[in-house]
Order: sequence, then structure tokens, then C-alpha cells
Amino acid sequence: MQISLLSFRHLPQVMDIEQRAYPWPWTEGMFVDSLRNGHLCYCISERESLVGYIIVFVAAGECHVLNVCVDPDYQGRGIGRRLLDHALKAAVDMGAEQAFLEVRVSNDPAIKLYESNGFRQVGRRKHYYPAGDVREDALVYRRELAGFGGSK
Ligand SMILES: CC(C)(COP(=O)(O)OP(=O)(O)OC[C@H]1O[C@@H](n2cnc3c(N)ncnc32)[C@H](O)[C@@H]1OP(=O)(O)O)[C@@H](O)C(=O)NCCC(=O)NCCS
Repeated sequence: MQISLLSFRHLPQVMDIEQRAYPWPWTEGMFVDSLRNGHLCYCISERESLVGYIIVFVAAGECHVLNVCVDPDYQGRGIGRRLLDHALKAAVDMGAEQAFLEVRVSNDPAIKLYESNGFRQVGRRKHYYPAGDVREDALVYRRELAGFGGSK
């Protein structure tokens, strides 16, 4: 599997995965904004087939993981971990010294991925995500990037 820069031509495959992987998916416009705004956007493909992607915003010595997603048919094979490592190393190359992200309190697979990657919980945002009739809290995670190799 190969990691490469995500581009506009990938959007149909991205939206197909996004809608199968999340109960409340991003809209295509959110991916377009990320690409236009120069966020770090990577995808991972098996032959011609896109199986995952990650979007990271880098600014002022920090980065923020906005979306990391793996095709449900390919989850649990180390792909999410590879994408996260790759994007964080690229963020370090752009000057990021720490990383932040939000995750739904109910999202155990993602929480395990982040905690095993060195992220620690630093906060909680009440009623942050849509979740049907009620809203769901977000956990805020942070990790130091000092010493995290910048060579992708
Ligand atoms: C979260 C997500 C990106 C993880 O990607 P993945 O490729 O399945 O994860 P990996 O195979 O790289 O696993 C990395 C670690 O995550 C944890 N993990 C992954 N899937 C898990 C599951 N179903 N249950 C529990 N832990 C899980 C494990 O700790 C795993 O490490 P290990 O294999 O050494 O035990 C993927 O599940 C996904 O796309 N989910 C839907 C979208 C989403 O919720 N994204 C995160 C938004 S904050």
C-alpha cells in the first residue's frame, strides 16, 4: 500500500468511504476546503483503490488532526496507524511541535489508536458532536511531537 497526496480527483472515492465509515460524515465541501486551504491531505491506496485518508491542519507550531478514516473493509490492519504516523511526521517537517485532536467519547477504536500513538486526554468539550436527539461530548487529546522523526 502506498501513501500519496490527496487531490480533488480522489474525492468520489473519499466520499464513498466517508459515508460508509461515519454516521455523521463530512460533506464534500469540507474536503474541498481542506484541499484549497493547503491542509496536509494524504491518502493510502492499494493498487488504484483508495482505502484511507487523513487531513491535518498545521499552523503556528501546532497541528490539528481533523479527519482520519479507513475504509471499513480495511480497518484493523494498521492502516490508520500508518496514516497518522505519516501525517504527524509531515507536520513536524512544517514546524509543528504538538498535535491536537477531538474524538467522540464513544469512538473506542480511534481512542485506542490515539492513546497508543502517544496522545493524552487534556480536555472534554460538552455536546460537541451531533448524535441524533442528543449531542455527544468530544474528548480533546494532545501529544508532544518533540523527538518524533521528521523523515517520512
Ligand atoms: C479509527 C480508525 C481510523 C483506525 O484505523 P484502523 O486502520 O482500523 O486502525 P489500525 O489497524 O491502524 O489500528 C491501530 C490501533 O487502533 C486500535 N484499534 C483499531 N481498530 C480497533 C477496534 N475495532 N477496536 C479496538 N481498537 C481498535 C488498536 O489499538 C490498534 O492497535 P493494535 O492493532 O496494535 O492493537 C478507523 O477505525 C476508522 O476509520 N474509523 C471510522 C472513522 C473514525 O472514527 N475516525 C476517527 C475520527 S476521530
